[in-house]
Amino acid sequence: MPLQFALATDAPHALSTPLLAVALAADEALPPALATLDGQLNGALGRALARRDFRGARDETLHLAGGEQGVERVLLVGMGKPADRNGALRRAGAVAARAATKLGTGELAFYAAELDARGAEEAAVGMGLGAWTYDDLRAKPPETERRARVSRVVVVADGGAQPGIDAADAITAGYTTARRLAMMPGNVCTPDTFAQVGQEIADAHGLQLTVLGRAELEREGMGSFLSVAQGTPQDPKLVALEYRKGGDAKPIVLVGKGLCFDTGGINLKPGDGMFNMKFDMCGAAGVMGAMEAIARLGLAVNVVGVIGSTTNMPSGTAMKPGDVVHSMSGKTIENHNTDAEGRLVLCDLLTWVKRYEPAAVIDAATLTGAIVIALGHQAVGVFGSDDALTQEVLAAGRRASERGWELPMFDEYKEQLKSDVADLKNVGGRAAGSITAAWFLREFVDGYPWVHLDVAGTAYSETDLGWLPKGPTGTPTGTFIEFVRGRAG
Ligand code: BES
Ligand code: MN
Ligand code: ZN
Repeated sequence: MPLQFALATDAPHALSTPLLAVALAADEALPPALATLDGQLNGALGRALARRDFRGARDETLHLAGGEQGVERVLLVGMGKPADRNGALRRAGAVAARAATKLGTGELAFYAAELDARGAEEAAVGMGLGAWTYDDLRAKPPETERRARVSRVVVVADGGAQPGIDAADAITAGYTTARRLAMMPGNVCTPDTFAQVGQEIADAHGLQLTVLGRAELEREGMGSFLSVAQGTPQDPKLVALEYRKGGDAKPIVLVGKGLCFDTGGINLKPGDGMFNMKFDMCGAAGVMGAMEAIARLGLAVNVVGVIGSTTNMPSGTAMKPGDVVHSMSGKTIENHNTDAEGRLVLCDLLTWVKRYEPAAVIDAATLTGAIVIALGHQAVGVFGSDDALTQEVLAAGRRASERGWELPMFDEYKEQLKSDVADLKNVGGRAAGSITAAWFLREFVDGYPWVHLDVAGTAYSETDLGWLPKGPTGTPTGTFIEFVRGRAG
């Protein structure tokens, strides 16, 4: 059952809800609109603030008992001293929905002072993110989670906030698709899964779908993509979804790395932590989720989402270090390390998408471990061939609470990709590993402005983040959606 979203225009004290979340910034006084509710609760809210039991620090919560009817529980949720109120509302919404999930209330309402449509949207998207769970593979829910899941979220605001609630519904559907795909283990999410989900999105929302398998990729001359796929019996898939509601404008093209599992291939990864490489398709998951959200939002734009999906395996047929392959562009590539496979898939996609005459191409990939060394888990690595587009993508990431940070693409870095036998090699050594990976991709960018997002440090979390659980964060879905919304005006 998809999560339900609703707007309540009632005064907070007139609500009937098992849980009312009240988001407050640091040291914010009780909003006047809550005075009547506070009276009904014998002044419990005002006292909690006066006694400093609750200070409004970021992610701080205080659970107070409410009435037998009406507002049955109140959860104060802190937003800290936000520079970005919309981002703080999203985060508070997620914290509230996770608390509601633990309590098993089944639904919750959210109040914050002066919510405009965008603020309401952010709170609702946050609740959508916080309410998300992945139980598809459980025979029965875990002991601690037997109580009702959150199935309905309500934002308390005036009627002008309705468009924000509707947008949150569409955006949450996109995030949910992306996170479900990401969470699926490698034996459940295969390249075929991307083709199936692509079919579902196309059927539900009237998009045009193209699926290419091994034979078609051979016909297209995508020798680089195919070299990664040659170690697995699974049929690799290129999946393209075309959404056209923008007249004859050139399309925005979103490209995603979809490695359903990355063992490293013959350059096998160490065993510890290898299980996380089921997340090596988060770029592709973000493209699929964004396409779904864009279609549900009905934006007046042309957007094409393209993903390349396979599995990087060691086998008797796998590519070997030193092999030279012919990319679709005509450039030859020396495979110096079979674990640098994502760029080998993406480079052929970057050539293939030229057929769309893109207005802009943005790719997202869990491309390098080096980006985790450079930026940790706090920022998406952003690289671009065009400064205006790069700034536009950075701004979209900020609006989506998926902050990015630009890294330099000085020409000198590209020297590291020189090969003894081929036009270039697929690795550039230890130094600046994320930048040389981006430069490798850029060598295949031809005739369109391009930005690359390295989401290896941000697409999933190995720890509970408080507002988001351990697992897929949804990044880069939101950046894609906000970018396209920005272009739609
Ligand atoms: N999928 C990995 C990158 C990755 C690492 C994603 C950690 C998420 C967390 C990618 O295919 C890879 O293995 N990259 C290599 C490149 C190296 C061989 C130049 C890496 O980062 O070690
Ligand atoms: Mn790899
Ligand atoms: Zn990989």
